Amino acid sequence: MAGELVLLTGGTGFLGHTILVDLLKHGYRVLVAARSHGKVTKVRAAPSIVALDPPATQLMFVLVPDMAAPDAYDEAVQDVDFIIHAAAPLPADYASAAGGSDLRQDRSLEDAFVTACVQGNMGILKSARDKGKTVRRIVMTSSTVAIAPADFFSDAAAASQREKGGKEVVVRGPETRVAVPEPPYKSQLHAYCAAKTASLKAAETFMKDQAPPFDLISIMPSLIFGKDELATGTDSTRMLMYRLLPQKASNDAGDASAGSSLEQEEIAAVGNAVLCTDVARAHVRALDPDIKGSQSFVLNIDARWEDTVPIAKAHITQAFGSGLFHPASPKWTTVPLKWDTTKVRDVLGIELATYDVMVKEVVGEYLEMMRTEGT
Ligand SMILES: NC(=O)c1ccc[n+]([C@@H]2O[C@H](COP(=O)([O-])OP(=O)(O)OC[C@H]3O[C@@H](n4cnc5c(N)ncnc54)[C@H](OP(=O)(O)O)[C@@H]3O)[C@@H](O)[C@H]2O)c1
Repeated sequence: MAGELVLLTGGTGFLGHTILVDLLKHGYRVLVAARSHGKVTKVRAAPSIVALDPPATQLMFVLVPDMAAPDAYDEAVQDVDFIIHAAAPLPADYASAAGGSDLRQDRSLEDAFVTACVQGNMGILKSARDKGKTVRRIVMTSSTVAIAPADFFSDAAAASQREKGGKEVVVRGPETRVAVPEPPYKSQLHAYCAAKTASLKAAETFMKDQAPPFDLISIMPSLIFGKDELATGTDSTRMLMYRLLPQKASNDAGDASAGSSLEQEEIAAVGNAVLCTDVARAHVRALDPDIKGSQSFVLNIDARWEDTVPIAKAHITQAFGSGLFHPASPKWTTVPLKWDTTKVRDVLGIELATYDVMVKEVVGEYLEMMRTEGT
């Protein structure tokens, strides 16, 4: 509701920034927890923030260098009405090549993901309980990776075979819960899945055991696509949808072997996607008083990765004609993982955008950024 104060973590990242813009548009006052002054400057300079030009009383920042440090949010939670906790370390492939996540390679995967995520979640819940006397609701960014077996994401083809066993694919929903994957972790993605599962479980256990005076809503998006206003250039991995839309190499022209590396690449991945602005809207809508607390929402639409290049070709023909994008699809196989998302429409009133919209939005931003880089 207009004028109420929201503490936002992760507001210097892809999704968090989009949440910030939605909050400001809906009249909230926002206190963004940032890790450095440099990030504050970057957020203030983002086109949407410049266009909205919020007064100093509507957009504020607090420095929290490490969310996992003891009492990290004690000061930040004071006098806020709501908290949206979107901060988390992302696997390198999912993060911006421009340095979205501070993932130190010398830390173990368990420390870098699971411990950081769980301590971040628990820290904000404890600070809200002990110091946030006015907090009424916490909205946490969870993920579909928190509520499906981790091998669906880290070894999708094998998991799909096991699950189907010749029968229908199981439909999962916002109430589905799975066991926390045990270490050792085979990859960053595997550790990330464990981190999101463990932090969801820790938060729900805290709410049950401690019965604090605020409630909790978990937002569980699948793979998020959309404009990335904080991307610093066309080299950001997000700009090309994590290689779903292959760029033609500069030395490809006239080369008979052009694209051969793409054609050799075979990736099986769960066909789940959601538009970033829809995910942001769900977080902000979840603050409204008509939405009951203590519930979760899964945000997903089924996508076929093989459709990415055809969709882009249909809408941005010239980018293929000019040789900017490679006309052949890499061999992405879509593994089905079905989600019940009906509550998003029925409770939050959000109609999720299609995969076409996501592809068009990302490619449109990419082309715009190319034009800017070229001038
Ligand atoms: N991207 C997806 O497809 C996807 C899908 C489902 C769920 N999610 C969830 O959505 C949330 C946001 O993800 P994103 O895609 O926006 O990632 P992102 O662009 O990498 O942003 C991550 C945010 O978390 C902050 N952060 C990371 N580690 C931190 C730490 N140790 N202490 C404090 N802040 C830390 C980052 O701060 P800096 O800016 O300083 O690095 C940044 O603001 C995460 O909870 C993620 O698990 C993402």
